Amino acid sequence: MALERTLSIIKPDAVAKNVIGEIYSRFEKAGLKVIAARMTQLSRKEAEGFYAVHRERPFFNALVEFMISGPVMIQVLEGDGAIAKNRELMGATNPKEAAAGTIRADFADSIDANAVHGSDAAETAAVEIAYFFASTDVHAR
Ligand code: PPS
Repeated sequence: MALERTLSIIKPDAVAKNVIGEIYSRFEKAGLKVIAARMTQLSRKEAEGFYAVHRERPFFNALVEFMISGPVMIQVLEGDGAIAKNRELMGATNPKEAAAGTIRADFADSIDANAVHGSDAAETAAVEIAYFFASTDVHAR
């Protein structure tokens, strides 16, 4: 499996539930390393830009409102097959459909507030990482 990087966001609902450490522990137990991280409150402009690809979808405004409703924890994860591995740890977008033991099954309440984001492909991971981090703030180790 190839060594990959992926962008992960712990969303406002999960930050409010105080489960950042629990989620980091799942990343680490799965062999993913946190190689960049910062907690921030997204501006509307930042959230709209990040989700621009979904601009035409009916839930776009609700998604942006949710993502700016409180602080988020943003990190770059590195590891073998990191993109798929992180998506597996996250579980399905809708927590009602997420497999038992996944982050969304355990911590998400609804499809609107679903605890975590993870890049879905190598191309999007590169764009999403560059959206939030300067290359000097990403620490291969
Ligand atoms: S995914 O995970 O990208 O394959 O899922 P997708 O269905 O394309 O959804 C894209 C992002 O929109 C969020 N989403 C929603 N937000 C609010 N309300 C509804 N109904 C809804 N449906 C999907 C979904 O969580 C994805 O956000 P991220 O941050 O990428 O997980």
